[in-house]
Amino acid sequence: MRIAVVGSGYVGLVAAACFAELGHEVISIDNDVEKVAMLQRGEVPIHEEFLPELLARHRSQKLTFSTDLREAVGQSQAIFIAVGTPATEMGDADLSYVEQVSREVAQAINGYKVVVEKSTVPVTTSEWIRRVMLLDGADADQFDVASNPEFLREGTAVEDFLYPDRIVVGADTERCATLLRQIYEPMTSGEYYQRNNIIPNVSNATVPPPIIVTSAKSAELIKHASNAFLATKISFINAVANICEAVGADIKEVCEGIGTDARIGRRFLNPGIGYGGSCFPKDLKAFSSVARETGYDFRLLQEVMAINAEQRSRFLRKVRSALWTLKGKKLAVLGLAFKGGTDDIRESPSIEIVKCLRKEGCEVRAFDPAATERAQEVLADSGISYHRSPYEAAEAADALLILTDWPEFARLDLPRLKSALTYPIMIDGRNLYDPAAMAAAGFIYSSVGRPDVQASIAKQNGKPEKMAAATPEKAH
Ligand code: UGA
Repeated sequence: MRIAVVGSGYVGLVAAACFAELGHEVISIDNDVEKVAMLQRGEVPIHEEFLPELLARHRSQKLTFSTDLREAVGQSQAIFIAVGTPATEMGDADLSYVEQVSREVAQAINGYKVVVEKSTVPVTTSEWIRRVMLLDGADADQFDVASNPEFLREGTAVEDFLYPDRIVVGADTERCATLLRQIYEPMTSGEYYQRNNIIPNVSNATVPPPIIVTSAKSAELIKHASNAFLATKISFINAVANICEAVGADIKEVCEGIGTDARIGRRFLNPGIGYGGSCFPKDLKAFSSVARETGYDFRLLQEVMAINAEQRSRFLRKVRSALWTLKGKKLAVLGLAFKGGTDDIRESPSIEIVKCLRKEGCEVRAFDPAATERAQEVLADSGISYHRSPYEAAEAADALLILTDWPEFARLDLPRLKSALTYPIMIDGRNLYDPAAMAAAGFIYSSVGRPDVQASIAKQNGKPEKMAAATPEKAH
Protein backbone atom coordinates (compact mmCIF):
# COMPACT_ATOMS: atom_id res chain seq x y z
CA MET A 1 0.00 0.00 0.00
CA ARG A 2 1.19 3.52 -0.74
CA ILE A 3 0.68 5.74 2.27
CA ALA A 4 1.30 9.42 3.00
CA VAL A 5 1.61 10.53 6.61
CA VAL A 6 1.21 14.27 7.02
CA GLY A 7 3.04 15.65 10.07
CA SER A 8 6.26 14.19 11.42
CA GLY A 9 5.81 14.83 15.13
CA TYR A 10 5.75 12.02 17.68
CA VAL A 11 2.63 10.34 16.28
CA GLY A 12 3.28 10.98 12.57
CA LEU A 13 6.91 9.94 12.54
CA VAL A 14 6.31 6.79 14.56
CA ALA A 15 3.30 5.86 12.41
CA ALA A 16 5.29 6.45 9.20
CA ALA A 17 8.22 4.33 10.41
CA CYS A 18 5.93 1.55 11.62
CA PHE A 19 3.87 1.46 8.40
CA ALA A 20 7.16 1.07 6.52
CA GLU A 21 8.13 -1.69 8.95
CA LEU A 22 4.87 -3.48 8.07
CA GLY A 23 5.94 -3.35 4.41
CA HIS A 24 4.08 -0.33 3.01
CA GLU A 25 5.61 2.39 0.81
CA VAL A 26 5.45 5.49 2.99
CA ILE A 27 6.02 9.19 2.33
CA SER A 28 6.34 11.26 5.50
CA ILE A 29 5.36 14.88 4.85
CA ASP A 30 6.14 17.95 6.89
CA ASN A 31 6.19 21.65 6.05
CA ASP A 32 9.20 22.19 8.32
CA VAL A 33 11.97 22.21 5.69
CA GLU A 34 14.74 21.85 8.24
CA LYS A 35 13.12 18.88 9.93
CA VAL A 36 12.60 17.11 6.62
CA ALA A 37 16.25 17.73 5.67
CA MET A 38 17.31 16.34 9.04
CA LEU A 39 15.22 13.20 8.52
CA GLN A 40 16.58 12.81 5.00
CA ARG A 41 20.12 12.95 6.42
CA GLY A 42 19.24 10.13 8.80
CA GLU A 43 18.99 12.19 11.97
CA VAL A 44 16.29 11.40 14.51
CA PRO A 45 14.56 14.50 15.93
CA ILE A 46 12.96 12.85 18.97
CA HIS A 47 14.00 10.45 21.72
CA GLU A 48 11.96 7.30 21.14
CA GLU A 49 13.06 3.72 21.71
CA PHE A 50 13.47 1.65 18.50
CA LEU A 51 12.70 4.67 16.27
CA PRO A 52 16.35 5.15 15.19
CA GLU A 53 16.49 1.46 14.22
CA LEU A 54 13.31 1.68 12.14
CA LEU A 55 14.34 4.91 10.42
CA ALA A 56 17.76 3.47 9.59
CA ARG A 57 16.17 0.26 8.29
CA HIS A 58 13.61 1.88 5.99
CA ARG A 59 14.95 5.35 5.09
CA SER A 60 15.33 5.93 1.33
CA GLN A 61 13.72 2.54 0.70
CA LYS A 62 10.22 2.05 2.04
CA LEU A 63 10.24 5.40 3.83
CA THR A 64 10.94 8.76 2.21
CA PHE A 65 10.62 12.31 3.53
CA SER A 66 9.25 15.26 1.64
CA THR A 67 7.69 18.71 1.97
CA ASP A 68 5.52 18.23 -1.11
CA LEU A 69 2.06 17.30 0.15
CA ARG A 70 0.36 17.45 -3.24
CA GLU A 71 2.80 15.10 -4.90
CA ALA A 72 2.53 12.67 -1.98
CA VAL A 73 -1.28 12.73 -2.15
CA GLY A 74 -1.15 12.00 -5.86
CA GLN A 75 0.97 8.90 -5.22
CA SER A 76 -0.88 7.54 -2.18
CA GLN A 77 -4.00 5.48 -1.52
CA ALA A 78 -4.28 6.51 2.12
CA ILE A 79 -3.39 9.87 3.61
CA PHE A 80 -2.97 9.94 7.38
CA ILE A 81 -3.32 13.36 8.98
CA ALA A 82 -1.03 13.49 12.02
CA VAL A 83 -0.56 17.24 12.42
CA GLY A 84 -0.80 19.08 15.74
CA THR A 85 -4.15 19.86 17.37
CA PRO A 86 -2.98 22.22 20.14
CA ALA A 87 -5.39 23.64 22.69
CA THR A 88 -6.81 27.09 22.03
CA GLU A 89 -7.05 29.61 24.85
CA MET A 90 -10.61 28.38 25.43
CA GLY A 91 -9.33 24.81 25.91
CA ASP A 92 -10.85 23.31 22.78
CA ALA A 93 -8.69 21.77 20.03
CA ASP A 94 -7.27 24.09 17.37
CA LEU A 95 -8.14 22.25 14.17
CA SER A 96 -6.77 24.85 11.76
CA TYR A 97 -3.82 22.63 10.73
CA VAL A 98 -6.17 19.71 10.10
CA GLU A 99 -8.38 21.97 8.00
CA GLN A 100 -5.45 23.31 6.00
CA VAL A 101 -4.19 19.81 5.21
CA SER A 102 -7.70 18.64 4.26
CA ARG A 103 -8.02 21.50 1.76
CA GLU A 104 -4.66 20.73 0.17
CA VAL A 105 -5.50 17.02 -0.04
CA ALA A 106 -8.82 17.88 -1.73
CA GLN A 107 -7.01 19.94 -4.35
CA ALA A 108 -4.53 17.16 -5.14
CA ILE A 109 -6.91 14.22 -5.26
CA ASN A 110 -6.60 12.11 -8.43
CA GLY A 111 -8.50 8.88 -7.74
CA TYR A 112 -10.08 7.12 -4.76
CA LYS A 113 -8.26 7.90 -1.48
CA VAL A 114 -8.96 7.42 2.17
CA VAL A 115 -8.17 10.41 4.36
CA VAL A 116 -7.48 9.18 7.89
CA GLU A 117 -7.45 11.24 11.07
CA LYS A 118 -4.55 10.06 13.20
CA SER A 119 -4.28 13.21 15.33
CA THR A 120 -6.51 13.37 18.39
CA VAL A 121 -9.57 15.29 17.26
CA PRO A 122 -13.02 16.00 18.68
CA VAL A 123 -15.99 13.96 17.61
CA THR A 124 -17.51 15.16 14.30
CA THR A 125 -14.12 16.25 12.89
CA SER A 126 -14.42 13.59 10.17
CA GLU A 127 -17.65 15.26 9.04
CA TRP A 128 -15.89 18.62 8.90
CA ILE A 129 -12.99 17.21 6.91
CA ARG A 130 -15.45 15.74 4.43
CA ARG A 131 -17.26 19.05 4.16
CA VAL A 132 -14.17 21.19 3.50
CA MET A 133 -12.88 18.67 0.99
CA LEU A 134 -16.14 18.80 -0.94
CA LEU A 135 -16.07 22.60 -0.81
CA ASP A 136 -12.53 22.50 -2.15
CA GLY A 137 -13.61 20.59 -5.20
CA ALA A 138 -13.01 16.94 -4.30
CA ASP A 139 -15.51 14.56 -5.88
CA ALA A 140 -17.64 12.77 -3.24
CA ASP A 141 -16.93 9.38 -4.87
CA GLN A 142 -13.19 9.91 -4.81
CA PHE A 143 -12.63 9.85 -1.08
CA ASP A 144 -13.75 8.67 2.33
CA VAL A 145 -12.75 10.08 5.68
CA ALA A 146 -11.84 7.66 8.46
CA SER A 147 -10.70 7.91 12.06
CA ASN A 148 -7.88 5.65 13.19
CA PRO A 149 -6.87 6.87 16.64
CA GLU A 150 -3.50 6.07 18.11
CA PHE A 151 -2.99 4.84 21.67
CA LEU A 152 0.78 5.03 21.75
CA ARG A 153 2.65 6.42 24.73
CA GLU A 154 5.73 8.55 24.30
CA GLY A 155 8.84 6.58 25.15
CA THR A 156 7.26 3.25 24.15
CA ALA A 157 5.55 4.53 21.01
CA VAL A 158 7.06 2.07 18.52
CA GLU A 159 6.27 -0.90 20.72
CA ASP A 160 2.75 0.41 21.40
CA PHE A 161 2.18 0.82 17.66
CA LEU A 162 3.35 -2.65 16.69
CA TYR A 163 1.95 -4.47 19.73
CA PRO A 164 -1.28 -2.62 20.52
CA ASP A 165 -4.09 -3.86 22.78
CA ARG A 166 -6.41 -3.15 19.87
CA ILE A 167 -6.58 -1.31 16.55
CA VAL A 168 -9.56 1.02 16.22
CA VAL A 169 -10.80 1.89 12.77
CA GLY A 170 -13.71 4.29 12.38
CA ALA A 171 -15.01 4.00 8.82
CA ASP A 172 -18.44 4.86 7.49
CA THR A 173 -18.25 2.87 4.22
CA GLU A 174 -17.18 -0.70 3.54
CA ARG A 175 -14.72 0.42 0.86
CA CYS A 176 -12.92 2.58 3.38
CA ALA A 177 -12.97 -0.08 6.14
CA THR A 178 -11.52 -2.64 3.70
CA LEU A 179 -8.60 -0.39 2.80
CA LEU A 180 -7.76 0.25 6.47
CA ARG A 181 -8.05 -3.45 7.26
CA GLN A 182 -5.50 -4.11 4.49
CA ILE A 183 -3.08 -1.60 5.98
CA TYR A 184 -3.09 -3.38 9.33
CA GLU A 185 -3.35 -6.88 7.85
CA PRO A 186 0.32 -7.80 8.51
CA MET A 187 -0.44 -7.27 12.22
CA THR A 188 -4.01 -8.58 12.48
CA SER A 189 -3.18 -11.76 10.53
CA GLY A 190 -0.16 -12.35 12.79
CA GLU A 191 2.16 -12.44 9.73
CA TYR A 192 4.36 -9.58 10.97
CA TYR A 193 5.05 -11.41 14.23
CA GLN A 194 6.43 -14.45 12.35
CA ARG A 195 9.12 -12.41 10.58
CA ASN A 196 12.77 -12.31 11.58
CA ASN A 197 14.41 -9.21 13.00
CA ILE A 198 11.21 -7.55 14.12
CA ILE A 199 10.94 -5.03 16.93
CA PRO A 200 10.80 -7.16 20.11
CA ASN A 201 7.60 -7.67 22.06
CA VAL A 202 9.15 -6.21 25.21
CA SER A 203 6.02 -6.14 27.35
CA ASN A 204 4.76 -9.51 26.15
CA ALA A 205 1.61 -8.17 24.53
CA THR A 206 -0.93 -10.63 23.13
CA VAL A 207 -0.58 -11.00 19.36
CA PRO A 208 -2.20 -10.71 16.90
CA PRO A 209 -4.13 -7.64 18.07
CA PRO A 210 -7.88 -7.42 17.47
CA ILE A 211 -9.22 -4.80 15.08
CA ILE A 212 -12.38 -2.97 16.11
CA VAL A 213 -14.30 -1.37 13.25
CA THR A 214 -16.74 1.35 14.26
CA SER A 215 -18.31 4.45 12.80
CA ALA A 216 -15.95 7.43 12.40
CA LYS A 217 -17.72 9.30 15.21
CA SER A 218 -17.43 6.39 17.62
CA ALA A 219 -13.71 6.07 16.86
CA GLU A 220 -13.22 9.79 17.55
CA LEU A 221 -15.00 9.37 20.86
CA ILE A 222 -13.01 6.23 21.74
CA LYS A 223 -9.80 8.25 21.61
CA HIS A 224 -10.97 11.12 23.83
CA ALA A 225 -12.78 8.82 26.22
CA SER A 226 -9.73 6.52 26.57
CA ASN A 227 -7.42 9.37 27.52
CA ALA A 228 -10.03 10.88 29.83
CA PHE A 229 -10.56 7.54 31.55
CA LEU A 230 -6.81 6.99 32.07
CA ALA A 231 -6.40 10.50 33.49
CA THR A 232 -9.38 9.85 35.77
CA LYS A 233 -7.71 6.69 37.00
CA ILE A 234 -4.56 8.67 37.86
CA SER A 235 -6.46 11.44 39.67
CA PHE A 236 -8.53 8.83 41.50
CA ILE A 237 -5.46 7.08 42.85
CA ASN A 238 -3.82 10.40 43.73
CA ALA A 239 -6.92 11.29 45.76
CA VAL A 240 -6.79 7.92 47.54
CA ALA A 241 -3.05 8.46 48.15
CA ASN A 242 -3.88 11.74 49.87
CA ILE A 243 -6.24 9.92 52.23
CA CYS A 244 -3.53 7.31 52.87
CA GLU A 245 -1.19 10.12 53.92
CA ALA A 246 -3.76 11.53 56.31
CA VAL A 247 -4.41 8.21 58.06
CA GLY A 248 -0.99 6.54 57.77
CA ALA A 249 -2.04 3.83 55.28
CA ASP A 250 0.16 2.71 52.39
CA ILE A 251 -1.02 3.45 48.82
CA LYS A 252 1.13 0.64 47.44
CA GLU A 253 -0.77 -1.89 49.52
CA VAL A 254 -4.07 -0.24 48.59
CA CYS A 255 -3.18 -0.39 44.87
CA GLU A 256 -2.25 -4.04 45.16
CA GLY A 257 -5.60 -4.70 46.81
CA ILE A 258 -7.71 -2.87 44.26
CA GLY A 259 -5.57 -3.44 41.13
CA THR A 260 -5.86 -7.24 41.42
CA ASP A 261 -9.58 -6.88 40.73
CA ALA A 262 -9.54 -7.66 37.00
CA ARG A 263 -12.31 -5.11 36.49
CA ILE A 264 -10.02 -2.35 37.78
CA GLY A 265 -6.56 -3.55 36.74
CA ARG A 266 -3.13 -2.57 38.05
CA ARG A 267 -1.98 -0.27 35.27
CA PHE A 268 -2.18 3.53 35.53
CA LEU A 269 -2.66 3.32 39.27
CA ASN A 270 0.65 4.96 40.15
CA PRO A 271 0.22 8.02 42.34
CA GLY A 272 2.69 10.87 42.02
CA ILE A 273 2.93 14.53 41.13
CA GLY A 274 0.06 14.36 38.63
CA TYR A 275 -0.13 13.65 34.93
CA GLY A 276 1.41 15.91 32.30
CA GLY A 277 2.50 15.66 28.68
CA SER A 278 1.14 16.78 25.37
CA CYS A 279 -1.96 14.56 25.54
CA PHE A 280 -3.85 14.20 28.83
CA PRO A 281 -3.94 17.89 29.86
CA LYS A 282 -4.94 19.01 26.37
CA ASP A 283 -7.35 16.16 25.68
CA LEU A 284 -9.21 16.53 28.97
CA LYS A 285 -9.81 20.20 28.27
CA ALA A 286 -10.87 19.45 24.70
CA PHE A 287 -13.17 16.58 25.70
CA SER A 288 -14.76 18.71 28.37
CA SER A 289 -15.30 21.44 25.78
CA VAL A 290 -16.76 18.96 23.23
CA ALA A 291 -19.16 17.70 25.92
CA ARG A 292 -20.23 21.27 26.74
CA GLU A 293 -20.95 21.93 23.06
CA THR A 294 -23.20 18.88 22.94
CA GLY A 295 -25.09 20.29 25.94
CA TYR A 296 -23.54 17.98 28.56
CA ASP A 297 -21.57 19.41 31.48
CA PHE A 298 -18.90 16.75 32.13
CA ARG A 299 -18.18 17.86 35.71
CA LEU A 300 -16.19 14.72 36.49
CA LEU A 301 -13.46 15.89 34.11
CA GLN A 302 -13.25 19.28 35.86
CA GLU A 303 -12.59 17.47 39.12
CA VAL A 304 -9.97 15.18 37.53
CA MET A 305 -8.11 18.30 36.33
CA ALA A 306 -8.43 20.02 39.72
CA ILE A 307 -7.04 17.00 41.61
CA ASN A 308 -4.19 16.84 39.13
CA ALA A 309 -3.22 20.48 39.64
CA GLU A 310 -3.43 20.10 43.42
CA GLN A 311 -1.00 17.18 43.33
CA ARG A 312 1.86 19.54 42.43
CA SER A 313 1.04 21.91 45.30
CA ARG A 314 0.90 18.98 47.69
CA PHE A 315 4.35 17.90 46.54
CA LEU A 316 5.72 21.38 47.16
CA ARG A 317 4.24 21.26 50.66
CA LYS A 318 6.10 17.99 51.20
CA VAL A 319 9.37 19.69 50.20
CA ARG A 320 8.62 22.52 52.61
CA SER A 321 7.77 20.19 55.44
CA ALA A 322 11.00 18.22 54.89
CA LEU A 323 13.23 21.31 54.73
CA TRP A 324 11.32 23.86 56.81
CA THR A 325 12.31 26.99 54.87
CA LEU A 326 13.12 26.96 51.18
CA LYS A 327 14.88 30.26 50.52
CA GLY A 328 18.55 29.64 49.76
CA LYS A 329 18.25 25.83 49.83
CA LYS A 330 20.09 23.81 47.21
CA LEU A 331 17.89 21.10 45.73
CA ALA A 332 18.91 18.28 43.43
CA VAL A 333 16.11 17.53 40.97
CA LEU A 334 16.02 14.25 39.05
CA GLY A 335 13.80 14.37 35.98
CA LEU A 336 12.55 17.28 33.89
CA ALA A 337 10.47 15.53 31.22
CA PHE A 338 6.78 14.85 31.86
CA LYS A 339 7.61 11.21 32.55
CA GLY A 340 10.54 8.81 32.21
CA GLY A 341 11.75 7.50 28.86
CA THR A 342 11.15 10.69 26.88
CA ASP A 343 12.74 14.08 26.21
CA ASP A 344 9.32 15.76 26.01
CA ILE A 345 8.81 18.53 28.53
CA ARG A 346 5.38 19.71 27.36
CA GLU A 347 3.09 20.27 30.36
CA SER A 348 5.74 18.62 32.52
CA PRO A 349 4.77 18.69 36.21
CA SER A 350 8.48 18.65 36.94
CA ILE A 351 9.13 21.90 35.06
CA GLU A 352 6.25 23.51 36.93
CA ILE A 353 7.66 22.37 40.28
CA VAL A 354 11.14 23.63 39.38
CA LYS A 355 9.67 27.05 38.51
CA CYS A 356 7.88 27.18 41.87
CA LEU A 357 11.04 26.19 43.74
CA ARG A 358 12.94 28.96 41.99
CA LYS A 359 10.23 31.46 42.94
CA GLU A 360 10.70 30.41 46.55
CA GLY A 361 14.42 31.16 46.28
CA CYS A 362 15.86 27.63 45.95
CA GLU A 363 18.92 26.85 43.87
CA VAL A 364 18.13 23.90 41.58
CA ARG A 365 20.69 21.31 40.47
CA ALA A 366 18.96 19.32 37.73
CA PHE A 367 19.60 16.08 35.91
CA ASP A 368 17.54 14.38 33.20
CA PRO A 369 18.87 11.59 30.96
CA ALA A 370 17.25 13.05 27.81
CA ALA A 371 15.35 16.29 28.39
CA THR A 372 18.07 18.70 29.55
CA GLU A 373 18.43 20.54 26.28
CA ARG A 374 14.69 21.10 25.89
CA ALA A 375 14.34 22.09 29.54
CA GLN A 376 17.10 24.66 29.18
CA GLU A 377 15.09 26.39 26.48
CA VAL A 378 12.17 27.03 28.82
CA LEU A 379 14.13 27.34 32.07
CA ALA A 380 16.73 29.89 31.08
CA ASP A 381 17.60 30.83 34.62
CA SER A 382 20.99 31.24 36.26
CA GLY A 383 19.61 29.67 39.45
CA ILE A 384 19.32 26.30 37.73
CA SER A 385 22.39 24.26 36.89
CA TYR A 386 22.30 21.15 34.69
CA HIS A 387 24.39 18.10 35.50
CA ARG A 388 25.69 14.96 33.86
CA SER A 389 24.59 12.45 36.46
CA PRO A 390 22.29 12.15 39.48
CA TYR A 391 25.37 12.11 41.75
CA GLU A 392 26.77 15.32 40.28
CA ALA A 393 23.36 16.98 40.74
CA ALA A 394 23.25 15.75 44.34
CA GLU A 395 26.67 17.26 45.16
CA ALA A 396 26.28 19.47 48.29
CA ALA A 397 22.50 19.63 47.86
CA ASP A 398 20.23 19.93 50.90
CA ALA A 399 17.82 17.32 49.52
CA LEU A 400 17.12 15.26 46.43
CA LEU A 401 13.77 15.35 44.63
CA ILE A 402 12.67 12.60 42.21
CA LEU A 403 10.22 14.01 39.69
CA THR A 404 10.13 11.54 36.80
CA ASP A 405 10.12 7.77 36.71
CA TRP A 406 13.19 6.98 34.62
CA PRO A 407 14.14 3.34 35.43
CA GLU A 408 17.71 4.42 36.24
CA PHE A 409 16.40 6.71 39.02
CA ALA A 410 15.05 3.61 40.75
CA ARG A 411 18.51 2.02 40.79
CA LEU A 412 20.66 4.74 42.33
CA ASP A 413 23.77 3.88 44.32
CA LEU A 414 22.37 4.99 47.67
CA PRO A 415 25.64 5.17 49.67
CA ARG A 416 27.19 7.27 46.87
CA LEU A 417 24.14 9.51 46.77
CA LYS A 418 24.14 9.92 50.53
CA SER A 419 27.76 10.96 50.61
CA ALA A 420 27.17 13.50 47.82
CA LEU A 421 24.22 15.16 49.59
CA THR A 422 24.69 17.58 52.48
CA TYR A 423 21.63 16.06 54.20
CA PRO A 424 20.31 12.59 53.37
CA ILE A 425 16.84 13.78 52.48
CA MET A 426 14.93 12.34 49.50
CA ILE A 427 11.46 13.46 48.46
CA ASP A 428 10.23 10.98 45.91
CA GLY A 429 7.36 12.19 43.74
CA ARG A 430 7.18 8.87 41.88
CA ASN A 431 7.41 6.28 44.68
CA LEU A 432 10.48 4.64 43.16
CA TYR A 433 11.89 3.38 46.47
CA ASP A 434 10.78 1.22 49.34
CA PRO A 435 10.51 3.41 52.47
CA ALA A 436 11.93 0.72 54.76
CA ALA A 437 14.97 0.23 52.50
CA MET A 438 15.52 4.00 52.35
CA ALA A 439 15.44 4.30 56.11
CA ALA A 440 17.84 1.38 56.39
CA ALA A 441 20.14 3.16 53.91
CA GLY A 442 20.18 6.18 56.21
CA PHE A 443 17.76 8.48 54.41
CA ILE A 444 14.94 10.69 55.56
CA TYR A 445 12.46 9.65 52.93
CA SER A 446 9.14 11.08 51.90
CA SER A 447 6.97 9.77 49.05
CA VAL A 448 3.36 9.89 47.87
CA GLY A 449 0.60 8.12 49.80
CA ARG A 450 2.99 6.27 52.09
CA PRO A 451 4.23 7.11 55.58
CA ASP A 452 7.41 9.18 55.69
CA VAL A 453 10.37 7.43 57.28
CA GLN A 454 13.48 8.75 58.95
CA ALA A 455 16.77 7.06 59.27
CA SER A 456 17.85 8.18 62.73
CA ILE A 457 15.08 6.25 64.48
CA ALA A 458 15.62 3.30 62.19
CA LYS A 459 19.24 3.12 63.30
CA GLN A 460 18.22 2.85 66.94
CA ASN A 461 15.82 -0.08 66.72
CA GLY A 462 16.77 -1.55 63.37
CA LYS A 463 13.35 -0.76 61.92
CA PRO A 464 12.23 2.24 59.95
CA GLU A 465 9.99 4.42 61.98
CA LYS A 466 7.06 6.34 60.57
CA MET A 467 7.55 10.05 61.01
CA ALA A 468 4.91 12.06 62.84
CA ALA A 469 1.85 11.77 60.65
CA ALA A 470 0.49 15.15 61.63
CA THR A 471 2.88 17.46 59.81
CA PRO A 472 0.94 20.55 58.67
CA GLU A 473 0.66 19.00 55.22
CA LYS A 474 -0.73 15.71 56.49
CA ALA A 475 -3.21 17.41 58.77
CA HIS A 476 -4.57 19.31 55.79
C1 UGA B 1 -1.01 9.03 26.69
C2 UGA B 1 -1.78 7.70 26.64
O1 UGA B 1 -1.29 6.80 27.63
C3 UGA B 1 -1.65 7.04 25.28
O2 UGA B 1 -2.46 5.86 25.23
C4 UGA B 1 -2.13 8.03 24.20
O3 UGA B 1 -1.99 7.50 22.90
C5 UGA B 1 -1.31 9.33 24.29
O4 UGA B 1 -1.47 9.88 25.62
C6 UGA B 1 -1.82 10.27 23.25
O5 UGA B 1 -2.99 10.67 23.34
O6 UGA B 1 -1.13 10.52 22.27
P1 UGA B 1 1.55 9.73 27.01
O7 UGA B 1 1.03 11.12 27.17
O8 UGA B 1 2.71 9.49 26.13
O9 UGA B 1 0.37 8.75 26.51
O10 UGA B 1 2.01 9.25 28.44
P2 UGA B 1 1.45 8.31 29.60
O11 UGA B 1 2.37 7.19 29.77
O12 UGA B 1 0.03 8.01 29.43
O13 UGA B 1 1.62 9.30 30.84
C7 UGA B 1 0.90 10.52 30.94
C8 UGA B 1 1.16 11.17 32.26
O14 UGA B 1 0.53 10.44 33.31
C9 UGA B 1 2.64 11.25 32.64
O15 UGA B 1 2.90 12.50 33.23
C10 UGA B 1 2.81 10.12 33.63
O16 UGA B 1 3.87 10.32 34.51
C11 UGA B 1 1.46 10.16 34.33
N1 UGA B 1 1.09 8.86 34.97
C12 UGA B 1 0.90 7.76 34.19
C13 UGA B 1 0.88 8.81 36.33
O17 UGA B 1 1.05 9.82 37.06
N2 UGA B 1 0.50 7.62 36.90
C14 UGA B 1 0.30 6.49 36.15
O18 UGA B 1 -0.06 5.44 36.73
C15 UGA B 1 0.51 6.57 34.78
